[in-house]
Amino acid sequence: PKPRQPLSNRAYPATRLRRNRASDFSRRLVRENQLSADNLIFPVFVLEGENQREAVPSMPGVERLSIDLLVEQAAELVELGIPAVALFPVVPAEKKNLSGSGAWDSDGLAQRAVRALKKAQPELGVITDVALDPFTTHGQDGIIDNDGYVLNDVTVEALVNQALSHADAGADVVAPSDMMDGRVAAIREALEGAGYVNTRILAYSAKYASSYYGPFRDAVGSAANLGKSNKSTYQMDPANSDEAIHEVAMDLAEGADMVMIKPGMPYLDIVHRVKTELQVPTFVYQVSGEYAMHMAAAQNGWLDGDAVMMESLMAMRRAGADGILTYFAVRAARLMRDRARA
Ligand code: PBG
Repeated sequence: PKPRQPLSNRAYPATRLRRNRASDFSRRLVRENQLSADNLIFPVFVLEGENQREAVPSMPGVERLSIDLLVEQAAELVELGIPAVALFPVVPAEKKNLSGSGAWDSDGLAQRAVRALKKAQPELGVITDVALDPFTTHGQDGIIDNDGYVLNDVTVEALVNQALSHADAGADVVAPSDMMDGRVAAIREALEGAGYVNTRILAYSAKYASSYYGPFRDAVGSAANLGKSNKSTYQMDPANSDEAIHEVAMDLAEGADMVMIKPGMPYLDIVHRVKTELQVPTFVYQVSGEYAMHMAAAQNGWLDGDAVMMESLMAMRRAGADGILTYFAVRAARLMRDRARA
């Protein structure tokens, strides 16, 4: 029964925000942000060998793949409309050394993976990680002195070699994740000098010294090498926010085409600041530890896995991210495709 008379003398609200929420059609009409496969980048761990597939225990559902299987996976990425893949090589121990010189081997795992992917799926964007940690026996992203301090300028020279070898192999985007000062300018100059005028630089500009990278270090096998050391002399202090704007502004001035904030969910305030203050292509990395937390809770039945996955991705879009690097990329894109068909 609908009461025609107010139940009390109290005035009812003229604006009821719940009216637009009352039906699916009006919720869709007033939805402010959209998520689609176009916003997703799939990070993958690449193995040596053929027909190799290894589970990553701390990242349930994530597998390291040899190049042939990666090429198969790439066909699905294209089918799902995922624009790009980000490659992370799992380098065998015997190929690691103090200086990380395996990083710019023209026949290295990353370089071979780029060539195979560009040959099989030329339309799929290929992003490579520029940093030395998979190649150093100490697990640091750069070259260290006797005290274990990561030296900036010699590391930048190594990173330039690495980025050039990726561009030679056909990488569309090089993504320096090392946090050395001046590396974007040096890489840009080298790329221009070599005629790679359209090779894009996606700078990990605001990369924090985060404990959420643990499962990634298991996946690429750098955790044991790094031991009890950390990366706090080059990655950013989680307490800082203005400094992220400074980093992003510098990387843009040095020639970055896109910038990234990392990790994702605990740092969405940074994503929002970067997008609103600088208005440039802004990416966010939903890192391994975020993935692991979601999966662990879902596997325990404590959270609805699909629901929190989609909510976390939409939250990143709402904060201002144009694109999201996420281990959920394939699962989320499949889910969106299936929902669109249903
Ligand atoms: C290393 C690199 C890291 C990640 C991407 N590139 C780890 C680190 O800085 O130790 C982390 C990604 C993730 O946790 O998912 N250059």
